[in-house]
Amino acid sequence: MVAAVRVHKYGGPEVLTYEEIEVGAPGPGQLRVKQHASGVNYIDTYFRMGMYPSPVGLPFVAGNEGAGEVVAVGPGVTDFKVGDRVGYVVALGCYAAERLVPADRAVKLPATIGYEQAAGMMLKGMTVEYLVRRTFKVEKGQNVLMHAAAGGVGLILCQWANHLGANVIGTVGSKDKAELAKANGCHHTILYRDEDFVARVKEITGGKLCDVVYDGIGKSTFPASLDCIRPLGMFVSFGSASGQIDAFNINILQTKGSLFATRPTLNTYAAKRADLLSIADNLFKVVESGAVKIPVNQKYPLRDAAQAHKDLESRNTTGSTILLP
Ligand SMILES: NC(=O)c1ccc[n+]([C@@H]2O[C@H](COP(=O)([O-])OP(=O)(O)OC[C@H]3O[C@@H](n4cnc5c(N)ncnc54)[C@H](OP(=O)(O)O)[C@@H]3O)[C@@H](O)[C@H]2O)c1
Repeated sequence: MVAAVRVHKYGGPEVLTYEEIEVGAPGPGQLRVKQHASGVNYIDTYFRMGMYPSPVGLPFVAGNEGAGEVVAVGPGVTDFKVGDRVGYVVALGCYAAERLVPADRAVKLPATIGYEQAAGMMLKGMTVEYLVRRTFKVEKGQNVLMHAAAGGVGLILCQWANHLGANVIGTVGSKDKAELAKANGCHHTILYRDEDFVARVKEITGGKLCDVVYDGIGKSTFPASLDCIRPLGMFVSFGSASGQIDAFNINILQTKGSLFATRPTLNTYAAKRADLLSIADNLFKVVESGAVKIPVNQKYPLRDAAQAHKDLESRNTTGSTILLP
């Protein structure tokens, strides 16, 4: 039996239940992994409350990001052996001391990447890779707006976009978060709870507006985010921390300047193993170069997963959050 955090019914943080579960031997194509750390992500709250239905029904083990050591390999697995250090993004099952992982979703960790760092970046960092290199290729001199710039995805994206030579503008919920975003590559910060962020983006860019807006906030920043984008620019709606955007008339993209809009997810970009490996490799390289650091700013024992969710949803966290078994 191993420790795990399960959801038996959808709801608030209180439904996260710390208990013992059985983990069997790995089946064909599977690895059994002793986890050293599990990442906490906003998507974990969507599954917990049922906004994203669990693909395995109820109960389920929460969590979508982790890192650990292979302790057994199932039949047919040739790429991994016992003792390998791996990181992964897998839908559910990550808040556990040990788990089974499909081998085709695991990535070997370079010796320079620690387990806690990996658990803080496999999901968030690979997301940033596809956002700034694939969904929209950020280039030198472009204006980029990142909402929740001091968050988990936010601090990584600010550093990476800065490294690519962009002028990075970030919205943040407090003055402390503004300081932190600035220390992590953000050139300009906007306190969007107090300031009109559209007016500030106009001012900062001298009226040119942004080439791309990365919006993981959703309901409360839409449609204002569209007013921050230059004609023919790109609106990337990649999350819903404040709730999902209501259905809208697509003609709004015409009136705001023939904008492009997309609602991407890492699952699509990393669906093929070759793409998963290439995204992970680019992430490892940028971290190993020192251009992007992974700020793991909150660590909780696994049994305190509910507190981690409370803190994340009440906007009390910055950077990455991990759980330790
Ligand atoms: N599509 C994908 O592939 C993908 C992958 C990873 C993450 N995501 C999305 O990226 C976003 C960020 O994820 P994360 O895990 O890094 O979380 P996070 O940014 O660390 O936390 C969410 C942040 O959103 C801001 N926020 C604004 N309004 C909020 C509200 N009403 N309630 C709670 N928070 C609010 C808060 O920052 P302030 O206090 O500064 O406002 C809060 O700290 C989420 O929407 C997530 O779903 C998408």
